[in-house]
Amino acid sequence: MNKVITLLIVLLTLAACGGSADETAAQIVRGEQVFSENCLSCHGAEAIGENPAQSHGGQKTDGSYLAPALNGKGHTWHHSNEMLFSTVKDGSVAKDSPMRGFKDKLSDDDIVAVLQYVKSLWPDEIQVRHAYDNLYKRTH
Ligand code: HEC
Repeated sequence: MNKVITLLIVLLTLAACGGSADETAAQIVRGEQVFSENCLSCHGAEAIGENPAQSHGGQKTDGSYLAPALNGKGHTWHHSNEMLFSTVKDGSVAKDSPMRGFKDKLSDDDIVAVLQYVKSLWPDEIQVRHAYDNLYKRTH
């Protein structure tokens, strides 16, 4: 009987921790599809940016905004998870930016999935640094 209870506790603990590696892999696959359909036209294939020579984005000669690289070469990974999520859901804080929110088009799960895909493009050391910065609230 004790063994059954121990097993139950182990299973419940595992379930409560959530987020298995399989779940992450599935999110990345879904996220790549969401990215192709909604983001690639501006941010480029594998999120290299509209102009890879200007991975941080910036402005074009006509004053409009360049879509930055999201792949770890630009500034994106300096933002907190909350900020990344709200940028995709509600749009850029710059009201004249073409980066508008996707809340009418994408579910919260799809927004998380597309961000998981974007993060999967980051080099390992940036993924680790981002997780650390989020944990200690060193992002903005
Ligand atoms: C119509 C073009 C366009 C589309 C489509 C678009 N973006 Fe953007 N995005 C931009 C531009 C331009 C910026 C930079 C200006 C700004 O932040 O307002 C930007 C900024 C961002 C940022 C902040 C990056 C940083 O380094 O600060 C994120 C994150 C982002 N986009 C993710 C996405 C995702 C995910 C999608 C698809 C669901 C998407 N974008 C679709 C044009 C676009």
